Amino acid sequence: MKDDRRPIAVMDSGVGGISVLREMVRLMPQEDFIFFGDSANAPYGTKTTEFVRDLTVEHVNTFLDRGVKAVAIACNTATAAALKDLRKLYPNLPMVGIEPALKPAVEQHPGGRILVMATPMTIREEKFNLLLSRFQEKAIIYPLACPGLMDYVEAGMFDSPKLYKFLEELLWDYRNGEVDAVVLGCTHYPFVKRAISKVLGPEVEIFDGAEGTARELKRRIETAGVARKDVTHVGEVTFENSNPTAKKLALCQKLLELDLDKRA
Ligand code: DGL
Repeated sequence: MKDDRRPIAVMDSGVGGISVLREMVRLMPQEDFIFFGDSANAPYGTKTTEFVRDLTVEHVNTFLDRGVKAVAIACNTATAAALKDLRKLYPNLPMVGIEPALKPAVEQHPGGRILVMATPMTIREEKFNLLLSRFQEKAIIYPLACPGLMDYVEAGMFDSPKLYKFLEELLWDYRNGEVDAVVLGCTHYPFVKRAISKVLGPEVEIFDGAEGTARELKRRIETAGVARKDVTHVGEVTFENSNPTAKKLALCQKLLELDLDKRA
């Protein structure tokens, strides 16, 4: 089916993937998107790989039954757990995942000290360890599992004293000029980027993979011949969630519009 008017499905364990969706909407404003957040099963990052893989495959099957033309796994954890299997299952589907943006961070800071913040599952999975081995010679890399951090974003807390206290404890060893750059290896974390920057200092450069992932999606739908040709179409974003409370859906809309560099 080559109908280019079909929507693109974007999924995450919760609301974090909206940090990637925002870049996709910016880059492809004529496309329709369905954003699915699995908040009922979140967090993914502290669960077993098998559990997250099975859930992710199940969600992708549901998207395909509904006729989407492409899929974006806007979750580092679900990507690490399921992308390899999904590519085997659906070799012709335009599909992207996301992984920590270590490459641009190392390119900008050769020989530098780079902190990678991600979920416990992302840090322990083979995918990340292969990535690490590619760059280990070129920089000093500190992987840091951050269980609990995504909960602040799910609760819509971007600037609260509780969040600052949590981050100060988590990042204690990396304050005061101990790192040159930070890679946000979980799609929830860009929403607390300002707080992370406050704790580590403004001179620490922060990277995330959202823009690169959006560009990769654009490239894949163009190659597959399903990019929307009518560029005058104003794309729509539909939010869906496995825990679809009014509060959660309102948070989704807020996150889509939030200025990440400004106070929430
Ligand atoms: N947003 C997800 C990621 O990019 C993880 C959050 C979770 O633990 O569910 O890894």
